[in-house]
Amino acid sequence: MRTRIKEILERGAKSAPCSFSGWVRSVRASKEICFIVLNDGSTIDGIQVVAESGLPNFTDICRIGTGTALTVAGTLVESPASGQKWELAAGSIEIIGGADAAFPLQKKRHSFEYLRTIAHLRPRTNTFGAVFRLRSRLAQAIHRFFSEESFLYVHTPIITASDCEGAGELFRVSTLDAAEPPMLEGQPDFSQDFFGQKTGLTVSGQLEGELFALAFGDIYTFGPTFRAENSNTARHASEFWMIEPEMAFANLADDADLAEKFVRYLCRFALDECADDMAFFDKHIENGLIERIGKVADADFARMEYTEAIDRLQKSGAAFAYPVEWGLDLQTEHERYITEQIVGGPVFILNYPKDIKAFYMRQNDDGRTVAAMDLLVPKIGEIIGGSQREERLDRLESRMVELGITQEPLWWYLDSRRWGSCPHAGFGLGFERLVMYLSGMENIRDVIPFPRTPRHCEF
Ligand code: 4AD
Ligand code: MG
Repeated sequence: MRTRIKEILERGAKSAPCSFSGWVRSVRASKEICFIVLNDGSTIDGIQVVAESGLPNFTDICRIGTGTALTVAGTLVESPASGQKWELAAGSIEIIGGADAAFPLQKKRHSFEYLRTIAHLRPRTNTFGAVFRLRSRLAQAIHRFFSEESFLYVHTPIITASDCEGAGELFRVSTLDAAEPPMLEGQPDFSQDFFGQKTGLTVSGQLEGELFALAFGDIYTFGPTFRAENSNTARHASEFWMIEPEMAFANLADDADLAEKFVRYLCRFALDECADDMAFFDKHIENGLIERIGKVADADFARMEYTEAIDRLQKSGAAFAYPVEWGLDLQTEHERYITEQIVGGPVFILNYPKDIKAFYMRQNDDGRTVAAMDLLVPKIGEIIGGSQREERLDRLESRMVELGITQEPLWWYLDSRRWGSCPHAGFGLGFERLVMYLSGMENIRDVIPFPRTPRHCEF
């Protein structure tokens, strides 16, 4: 059985005779001795393997290339060289899979843009090793948080007939003949499609999540969501993961409280339990990252009304590309100005104009805003979007009429307001934006294993 490098390094002298397998990061060979750095993905650190000329296959070993897969056995000894505490005096080295000079990851540093074109190989670099270890641990921490809070984990469907956010960004799911679909009154006849109706990939599990909250009290979803939104920004992906908790008998303030506790928990988790990778990000991706995340873990988040945010943006005197006016949505530049310049940390913006938000949000008594909240954080802008939901059937129906949303296909959602309806609230945290926030990585394409964006779905 192979031992992971992480475990070997943690055990130190105690793991003296050991065997491990991994991929060569660098080789330096001379006549008498060959130094190989091997990494197996379990930790940011590799082990320096020292091979001496007495090994029977020493000549072959000296010829191996970066990227070669090896199994090494030997004795862990204190390293006389600086930069590492331990090294391995090799007793045997088995070449498992060779790699020639065409292996693209030869030099130490490549641009992230280039590495995106070789997304099948980039996990073997330090940066992407750290990103995807952090991502994996965070996913587990999210389940741990909600388990500690006694929330029910619900798997909402991926194929759906409803467009939760109403933005018309559904990817179509169809088995109709694309070239010659059956037609009815000039339109493809979806009644002949696989599900007997028009269907797509979900943009959010919220509507189904609400139904479960109204039975289990507190629930969350954590799954992939899809948006056919043609925006090519560093923060938008066509396929991304979202965590959506939903609480019954809860209002907007309860919602913000949960979001704050959740985000602070994840900051603390990353610092405490992913310390090596966080130290790497601090050193190579964003200086000061650890201090920044530490402050967020310890501080109360600010809360500001949308109306006040508009007022302060207008009075800031800053020049923005997009207009700032009550009734208009906040653009990323505005969001970042609020969280970076005005507040200097995470801030909830509360009670947005109803006309820029989705149909399901609870209408406030002022007649012009809804009980919506976005959490804005420095460098990213919006990381969470949520709201208290409209639990009053008549108000929900009249809002749908106003927005021209057909009620019939959402009869099951409306039913939840017919029997035992109650105030409830929830939010969605974009998982990739969280990983960006905690790692300092600046492009969403670099925190998801195989990014899907407009015109990109190669791997
Ligand atoms: O604000 P959004 O659209 O809210 C919803 O989907 C609600 N149904 C959530 C709820 O109340 N249960 O999306 C929520 C979050 C955003 O704040 C953002 O972090 C992320 O999802 N997000 C995206 N992340 C990556 N790429 C995209 N195209 C994203 N769109 C939204
Ligand atoms: Mg939003």
